[in-house]
Amino acid sequence: MALILGIETSCDETGIALYDLATGLIAHTLYSQISLHAQYGGVVPELASRDHTKRIIPLIKQCLVDANLDLGMIDAIAYTAGPGLNGALLVGASVANALAFSLNKPVIPIHHLEGHLLSPFLCETKPGLPFIALLVSGGHTQIIAVEAIGKYTLLGDTLDDAAGEAFDKTAKLLGLPYPGGKYLAELAVHGQDIYNLPRPMLHSHDLNFSFSGLKTAVLTLVNKITEQEEMTLPIKQNLAASIEESITDVLVKKVADAVSQTGINTVVVSGGVSANLKLRKKMNKIPNATVFYPPLDLCTDNGAMIALAGAHRFKAAKFDYSFSVYPRYELIKQTRAS
Ligand code: KG4
Ligand code: ZN
Repeated sequence: MALILGIETSCDETGIALYDLATGLIAHTLYSQISLHAQYGGVVPELASRDHTKRIIPLIKQCLVDANLDLGMIDAIAYTAGPGLNGALLVGASVANALAFSLNKPVIPIHHLEGHLLSPFLCETKPGLPFIALLVSGGHTQIIAVEAIGKYTLLGDTLDDAAGEAFDKTAKLLGLPYPGGKYLAELAVHGQDIYNLPRPMLHSHDLNFSFSGLKTAVLTLVNKITEQEEMTLPIKQNLAASIEESITDVLVKKVADAVSQTGINTVVVSGGVSANLKLRKKMNKIPNATVFYPPLDLCTDNGAMIALAGAHRFKAAKFDYSFSVYPRYELIKQTRAS
């Protein structure tokens, strides 16, 4: 049994959590800076760092109060070391290391994507190993074979935009706020897939993705529609449904291919886009596969997944103080699958 404090500050969410491998997630606190960045249409790195500095200590205090625990009971501190925004990462890294030093406890640097990858373990029913993981976030779209914790093989990757980026960029074309994935999904519920948008690389015979062409197709279509008529709510709903169908069709087909190619039929879908309900519905229909997801409120960035990854790493090895952050950070040292 080991109590881990997890700290996530890689982008625009300050996330703190207390996790124990024996009892699971004990408490977590989260502050999202979305409203701070919305007016700029994207994350402003310097504003993100300043806000993390302001929130991090109160959130740690609140998390301890919620858990009814005190700092002295913590066995180790895990923090996101990358990838992410340099200044934002440094806020979490400095607080983690300062706290660990003052408490004389080990500090555990965590790869942000490993946090997402393992986040379905935050659910009561946990996936068994090995599994195929579809990691779909704002910056990544990867298919990974997970043999054991820390043993990852990259099977497929995006050649350009990530799935979350495709949601966000096309949502922007529909005039939705940033990050638009969840707003687009809300509109899509009331629309129909009538525009027959391209399904990029659906039949490419590999497990890679490409989403930048879809964004261009949506831009051309939006321009054509607005030349002829007003962009009404029903049109936006149909566009949203068409975009969502196109992105999710490709994601589901590639995961189904990965399952049949590897014979591994346990699947994990994680990262911000795993909150998409249409994606979940279609993934659940993949033949011969059982699919696991993070809890809906823990799909986007949070401290719980970092504390959980920290707990698994803590069990496996010894840690000392370190102070590196990696704005660019490969989880898997391997060339992209062809
Ligand atoms: O994993 P995440 O919080 O951040 C990164 O590590 O990148 O993922 C954020 C992404 C954004 O692109 C956001 O629009 C997308 O996840 N997202 C969604 C939904 N909720 C969040 N995309 C589609 N449908 C959703 N319901
Ligand atoms: Zn993330």
